[in-house]
Amino acid sequence: MKTFTVELGARSYPIYIGSGLLSRPELYQQHIKSKQVLVLTNETVAALYLEPVVSAFTGYTVATVILPDGEQYKTLEFLNRVFDELLTRKFNRNATLIALGGGVIGDMGGFAAACYQRGIPFIQIPTTLLAQVDSSVGGKTGVNHALGKNMIGAFYQPLCVLADTATLNTLDNRQFSAGLAEVIKYGLIRDIEFFVWLENNMEKLLERDPELLAYVIERSCLNKAQVVADDETESGVRATLNLGHTFGHAIETGCGYGSYLHGEAVAIGTCQAADLSWRLGWLDDNEKDRVIRLLAQARLPITPPELATERFLELMEVDKKNLDGQIRLILLHAIGKATLPVNIDHSTLRMTLENYGKA
Ligand code: NAD
Ligand code: GLY
Repeated sequence: MKTFTVELGARSYPIYIGSGLLSRPELYQQHIKSKQVLVLTNETVAALYLEPVVSAFTGYTVATVILPDGEQYKTLEFLNRVFDELLTRKFNRNATLIALGGGVIGDMGGFAAACYQRGIPFIQIPTTLLAQVDSSVGGKTGVNHALGKNMIGAFYQPLCVLADTATLNTLDNRQFSAGLAEVIKYGLIRDIEFFVWLENNMEKLLERDPELLAYVIERSCLNKAQVVADDETESGVRATLNLGHTFGHAIETGCGYGSYLHGEAVAIGTCQAADLSWRLGWLDDNEKDRVIRLLAQARLPITPPELATERFLELMEVDKKNLDGQIRLILLHAIGKATLPVNIDHSTLRMTLENYGKA
C-alpha cells in the first residue's frame, strides 16, 4: 500500500492506494469518530461492493442510500434523498458519510456532507479509475444544473480517501479509458516525464498491467495532491486541472448529461484546447499531434459532436473560470506546461470550433 498526504494544514488527509484495501476497513474506520454512518452509492456499485463496506460496521448504526446510476442523476433532486435519509434516521452532526463509487457519487456525497447540518465528516472510497486519479482528491463537490455542469457545489475535504485498485477489475473498457483522459491531463499540464512515459506504455496500460496501473494512480494522485496543496480553492494554479474541461463541460451539457462520459468529453475538449493553443502559436504541429495521438491511443474520442458554433459558445459562457462575461480557458504553452486561465479572443476560438475535427 502507498499513502500520500494532501497537505492542507488542519484539513490534511491521507490517500491510501493499494489492491484489496476494501478488506482493511480499519484504514478508514480510524478516522470515524461517531457510531452513525451513512453509505452513499449507486445501484451498480452497491451490487459489487456495498456488502464489504456495510458489514465492516458491526456495532454502528448504518444507513445506506442507493441512487440510480448515471450522470443524469447528479442533481439537487436526487441529492435530497440523502438529506431525507439522514433526517429520517435522526443522524447528528458527527455522523460520517461514506461515498462509495465513481465521481458522480463522490461529488454528490461530498456536497451532501458539506450541507447537512452545515457540515459532517465524510470519506471517499472511489471505485472508478477517474475517481481514483482525480475526483476523490481535492474536495470539489457538487451537482449539475440543467444549464451548467457542476454549477452548484462547495469545496469540502474528506477525512481520507481509500482507493482499492482491485475494484477497477470490474470496470468496463469504456469507463477505464475515460479515466485515462484525466491521467493524460497531469502529463500535459505539469509532468512531461509522465506524458512521455504514457506514450511509451499506453498499450500495456490498456491491458491493465497491475504494476503499471498502480504507478499511474500513484503518480496522478501525487500530481493532484501537490496542485491542491498549493491552491485549495482555485485562485491560481488549480485552474490548470481544468484543461479541456470548458469545451468538455459544454459537450456534456449540450449533448445531455450521460451521452458522453465525463472523461470522453474532456478528451475531446483537450484536443480542442491543443488545437487552439496551436492556432495561437504556442504548440507546434508535432506537439499538437502528440496530444491528440495519445488520447486516441487511450481509445478516447477525439472528434467533437455536431454542436453549432453559436451553441458551443453559449454553453462555454457558463463556466466557473469566466469573469465579467469573458470566456477564459486553460491552454498549453508546451506539453507539460499549462497556462493559467486566459481571456480568449472569440475569433480564434471560433476557428477551433469550426475547423477542429471537421472532415
Ligand atoms: P461515474 O461515477 O458515473 O462512474 C462511471 C460508471 O462506472 C458508472 O456507471 C458507475 O456505476 C460504474 N462503476 C463505478 N465503479 C465501478 C466498478 N468498480 N466496477 C464497475 N462499474 C463501476 O463516473 P466517473 O467517471 O467515475 O466520474 C465522473 C464524474 O466525476 C463527473 O460527474 C465529473 O464531473 C466528476 N469529476 C469531479 C472531479 C472533482 O474534482 N470533484 C474531477 C473529475 C471529475
Ligand atoms: N478536477 C478539477 C479539480 O479538482 O480542480
